[in-house]
Amino acid sequence: MISEWIFYIILYLLAAVFTAFFAYCLYVHHIHQKYDHIPGPPRDNFLLGHSPSLTKALYSDDSLIYDLFLQWAEKYGPVYRINTLHYVTIVVYCPEATKTIMMSPKYTKDPFVYRRVFNLFGKRFLGYGLITAVDHDIWYRQRRIMDPAFSSSYLRSLISTFDEMSERLMDKLEEIANNKTPAVMHDLVNCVTLDVICKVAFGVDLNFLTQKDSPFQNAVELCLKGMTFDVRDPLFRIIPKNWKLIQQVREATELLRKTGEKWIQNRKTAVKNGEDVPKDILTQILKSAEEQNVTSTEDFEQMLDNFVTFFMAGQETTANQLSFAIMELGRNPEIYKRAKAEVDEVLGTKREISNEDLGKLTYLSQVLKETLRLYPTAPGTNRWLHEDMIINGIKIPGGCSVMFNSFVSQRLEKFFKDPLKFDPKRFDENAPKPYYTYYPFALGPRTCIGQVFSQMEAKVVLAKLLQRFEFSLVPGQSFDIKDTGTLRPKSGVICNIKQCS
Ligand code: HEM
Repeated sequence: MISEWIFYIILYLLAAVFTAFFAYCLYVHHIHQKYDHIPGPPRDNFLLGHSPSLTKALYSDDSLIYDLFLQWAEKYGPVYRINTLHYVTIVVYCPEATKTIMMSPKYTKDPFVYRRVFNLFGKRFLGYGLITAVDHDIWYRQRRIMDPAFSSSYLRSLISTFDEMSERLMDKLEEIANNKTPAVMHDLVNCVTLDVICKVAFGVDLNFLTQKDSPFQNAVELCLKGMTFDVRDPLFRIIPKNWKLIQQVREATELLRKTGEKWIQNRKTAVKNGEDVPKDILTQILKSAEEQNVTSTEDFEQMLDNFVTFFMAGQETTANQLSFAIMELGRNPEIYKRAKAEVDEVLGTKREISNEDLGKLTYLSQVLKETLRLYPTAPGTNRWLHEDMIINGIKIPGGCSVMFNSFVSQRLEKFFKDPLKFDPKRFDENAPKPYYTYYPFALGPRTCIGQVFSQMEAKVVLAKLLQRFEFSLVPGQSFDIKDTGTLRPKSGVICNIKQCS
């Protein structure tokens, strides 16, 4: 009797699973019918859509997922479709649609994409911080409060800190030059940008150039790595061989948030004791909490979300840009010579760089812009299309994600002639300005808040490097790009360094 009951229960469950699966397949079919008039590569299979191709590209050693997006853009045109289960992403490269969508607050960030970094393998990560806040009002309130820490007058006052942190790098390079050992430039500039964000954003001086195997630095690195897998490969966490890394990423996330907790408490105590505190990002995070009357644990968690957000957004991106710039200067002697000549003319033997000096280093700005054209270190952003829209003559039904990818747009021949050539002249003041085809910092209301900050920092480091040292790339290294959440040079950019006479 009991076995008969069990038999019927199993039968019932199987029928329920089958019906649910069948209904889901019908839904996927309906979605295909709704969007299949939009051009796109053939799906790998009915249910998974293009995921097998995307996963293969993600784990490939010799190409990037963005190379695949670029190939598809060249083959299927400026509007194409990607399917993953029932989820549709429309990839868009037409300047007019880029302008319409990215410049308007009406099109919010895609909640399905940004919700995926709320947690990292189950541990709260970016939460509702400035990058991941999707709701316009919640985001705008935070952005408005953070803005003073990025105002031009406040940033101008930071020049001496950028200078001081870059001087540490110069000291380290002097030591390396004297020892006649090669310098792994990516690791070195990474320490500088970490020092800068700790000091400028949070008032803490850690001097990473003197630390070996810093747990904090490793934690930042691990979180970025974990982010790539957790966001892009839903099956990553169920494969046992990945469990060790997942545990390390969880611990790293916890370390970052615990550090944030400590620094926030220290600053609160300093304020309470009437100490003079800088108007930095941490002050703004506290102010934002104060305005919103923060009392609950959840509110405190939101402060930590922004702490982690600024570490993730504000450090690797700039370090990677600097590494790519050094790599390209090493590969292009003429460009190197011109940049150095400009630095020598503007700075001479002067040690301290001023804001006025930065303004005069126009060719160096062009080098940095061209670096981000060829190597946009944070290449993608997504918006949610809630209503129907005609893009490039194609009707796009509402209810899908729209992806803008600067790596692809900035490497398309039709927008940038001879796109793989590193040519800072493209950004000469007399050259035509790119029209919604160049967006390494995104565009519109959700544009990068740290754009000016990062470019001031990068310029100070690069100018000092060119002023004090001659560098050349150690032969035989790769010029490939590695995707670790942000884009960075695979080789680490290994240079022979000599002090300028
Ligand atoms: C070369 C350096 C940098 C690049 C290429 C870069 C790029 C970007 C991009 C593409 C976005 C949009 C992300 C998205 O839509 O998902 C963004 C947003 C953001 N970035 Fe940056 N970034 C850089 C440096 C910085 C720095 C130095 C900071 C802070 C000190 C920073 C803080 C942020 C924040 C908070 C956001 C979110 C802004 C908002 O939605 O209101 N970034 N960045």
